[in-house]
Amino acid sequence: MELYAMKGGVPLVGEVEIGGAKNAALAILAAAIMTDETVTVENVPDVRDTNVLMAAMESVGAMVVKTDRHTVKINGSKIDNLVIDDEHIKKIRASYYLLGALLGKYKHAEVPLPGGCNLGTRAIDQHIKGFRALGADVRVEHGFVVAEATKLKGGHIFMDKVSVGATINVMMAAVMAEGRTTIENAAKEPHVVDLANFLNCMGANIKGAGTDVIRINGVPKLHKAEYAIIPDQIEAGTFMMAAAITKGDITVKNVIPKHLECISAKLLEIGCEVEESDDAVRVVATKRLNNTQVKTLPYPGFPTDMQPQITVILGLSEGISIVTESIFDNRFKYVDELIKMGADIKVEGNTAIITGVPRYSGANVSAPDLRAGAALVLAGLAAESLTVVDDIKYIERGYEDFPEKLKNLGAQIAKVRDQKELKRIEFGVS
Ligand code: EPZ
Repeated sequence: MELYAMKGGVPLVGEVEIGGAKNAALAILAAAIMTDETVTVENVPDVRDTNVLMAAMESVGAMVVKTDRHTVKINGSKIDNLVIDDEHIKKIRASYYLLGALLGKYKHAEVPLPGGCNLGTRAIDQHIKGFRALGADVRVEHGFVVAEATKLKGGHIFMDKVSVGATINVMMAAVMAEGRTTIENAAKEPHVVDLANFLNCMGANIKGAGTDVIRINGVPKLHKAEYAIIPDQIEAGTFMMAAAITKGDITVKNVIPKHLECISAKLLEIGCEVEESDDAVRVVATKRLNNTQVKTLPYPGFPTDMQPQITVILGLSEGISIVTESIFDNRFKYVDELIKMGADIKVEGNTAIITGVPRYSGANVSAPDLRAGAALVLAGLAAESLTVVDDIKYIERGYEDFPEKLKNLGAQIAKVRDQKELKRIEFGVS
């Protein structure tokens, strides 16, 4: 099993280029099969989740060709199977975007119930409610969600919960439905807006994405498009936090600073310097940081996908901090791992009470999910002596070249094949 091994204590300094947003890419790649013409998508991150999704699209007959590492041409005209039964797709949450895309285009889709990071119960009732409001018959059979309709008609949907996935899925199903669809209490995340912009480039008529009411006027068909995915808000935030935790100085380039405001505001509040320019954010930390309170919320609130990273920072800050997770019910599993590194954190329900310690000590830890895995790497980069993070397959689902980018900033980190190879690596640990 592959591992990341690192020796902490080096302030990370320099510039890092941020890639395309994984969660926007997953929606956009799925939506690209909704036309029979060829779509070119640029700035697609080369990570496990996007590659698994593209393989599943190919398995039902879509043509998917990478013309370079980050550019993909997709043609959905030869799709001849509406049942996604790919072994790997069950493991990624975004498999359900093929439900909205295939249902919207062919009025029929069968997709395995989604997997993904284990963050607790992850219902899909709002997706199903939305599809039904458009006139689809939706049922769960033999582990598959089966959605079908003779025709889809615009409907009025009030989401009971703000859901990124349900907003995206219903938007895709509605673009070619007859008449007008209104989604109220819609998610406002940047990737929801990016998908709407992409669909509009393909000829859809979507208004209001980025607000909590999205209005979609159905069009008969979609056409070819060329589109570049927005930069990844969470990858950018993770590198901003890497500067904070290592008392470094990192300029995170190719970002949309507006998408990072809630992260910048928290870092400023705890004592970092944050400088924004048109498409970059520089974070500098020179001293021990302060305590604070954080509550995760839908966009524009503090993202749940940055919760483990800020907790790791607050674990080394002065005083007592409180982090409340309000999106998922099981997103503190990494705390046990952090405690192995000397953190003083108590979790009560959906709240972590963090008493800052002066330092972490290196340990062998396991990544329980994608963002928590990245957060444990950040902890390792700030820890004394050697830290080994295993189960890095989770991290590789969403971070492209993570150790390489950290290394370019001065981190002592290496990806190793197994424990045997680890023994051969010399990090200068005494
Ligand atoms: C998306 O997941 C992201 N995944 C997640 O990214 C992210 O953590 C999450 O949004 C929140 O921002 C992708 O975009 C592929 P939700 P999603 O539907 O769409 C409940 C990462 O690390 N809910 O907004 O699955 C749900 O249980 C990850 O990149 C229902 O109750 O999240 C959760 O408590 C992991 N019923 C809350 O809503 C539903 O039908 C928000 O979930 C749908 C969701």
